[in-house]
Amino acid sequence: MSQMTAIKNSEVSHLAFLNDVLSGLTKRQKTLPCKYFYDDKGAALFEQITTLKEYYITRTEFAILAAYAPAIAQRLPPKLTIIEPGCGSGKKVAYLLSQLVNVRAFVPFEISTEMLNYSLTHLSAQFPSLVISPLQGDFTHSLTVKQLSKETALDSHTNLVYFPGSTLGNFDPLTAIKILKNFHRLCGINGYILIGIDLIKSRHTLLDAYDDKAGVTAAFNKNLLTRMNNELAANFVLCQFSHQARFNEKHSRIEMHLVSDCCQTVMIGEQKIAFKQGETIHTENSHKYTLASFKKLAQQAQLMLTDTWQDEDGYFALCLLRPY
Ligand SMILES: C[S@@+](CC[C@H](N)C(=O)[O-])C[C@H]1O[C@@H](n2cnc3c(N)ncnc32)[C@H](O)[C@@H]1O
Repeated sequence: MSQMTAIKNSEVSHLAFLNDVLSGLTKRQKTLPCKYFYDDKGAALFEQITTLKEYYITRTEFAILAAYAPAIAQRLPPKLTIIEPGCGSGKKVAYLLSQLVNVRAFVPFEISTEMLNYSLTHLSAQFPSLVISPLQGDFTHSLTVKQLSKETALDSHTNLVYFPGSTLGNFDPLTAIKILKNFHRLCGINGYILIGIDLIKSRHTLLDAYDDKAGVTAAFNKNLLTRMNNELAANFVLCQFSHQARFNEKHSRIEMHLVSDCCQTVMIGEQKIAFKQGETIHTENSHKYTLASFKKLAQQAQLMLTDTWQDEDGYFALCLLRPY
């Protein structure tokens, strides 16, 4: 029997969104947390990005999964509970679930109600006998993770935390270590973490992946402005901002920005936010790793890199970590 828990449509509270926006847009370098990309429209645009020719990440990760699923399955014990923080549409875990036998349960752990409901509907139709126990929350919040793992008695099972898509790369190294520590807690001392990481490659390939010709990534980035207009009574004029992708060599990361094309003032409710011409809102980071730099990062969360699986071009890696 598929076990579906009703999900409250609370999502990220309106107040938290407003606070994050006001605090981000009043900094010297204006910023917005990337978790706000994924409303309904943002999630649909992201799905579109994953099919673009320039966006090598999704198809490369799927190809690695397809080639090495038996090898990965061999490294994992039976009766696993699979937890997927930021599961999105759940398409990747669906493939993994189809390759593993005897999975005890699946726990999608999402901040977005829309994505949680979407993955629940699709996965329960595809795997009718799978126990699915959704959790709504923010995987960066250590307290939330601690509470959720206690409430759901995750400690009493052998857990695999599955974190594909190089989502870890969206966080600066200190936050990434904190997240890995949260995953360490979620998987428990006998558990496993299977994580997808994007590897350093040519600047040209990287920039194209985040600035496609059809403008889908631009629309995804600008959707943050629409979301603020709709949910926070803001009045961003979309055609007065441009999407920009940059490679930051020092931090080994792609950055996405929204550039103000003119000098302008925007209202967020009652609050005025002034923009100079050329000033940007830094909306996302995507850190790129080497296997050595990732291994070092994982060690700081007391996690040992035991296995890696890569594509022929060395674009992407699936890494298995164990707590120590
Ligand atoms: C880039 S998508 C990746 C989806 C999927 N894991 C994949 O690899 O295709 C990121 C997903 O993580 C979710 N997410 C982002 N930040 C989150 C957070 N702090 N806590 C929980 N979920 C989060 C988003 O709602 C979105 O569905």
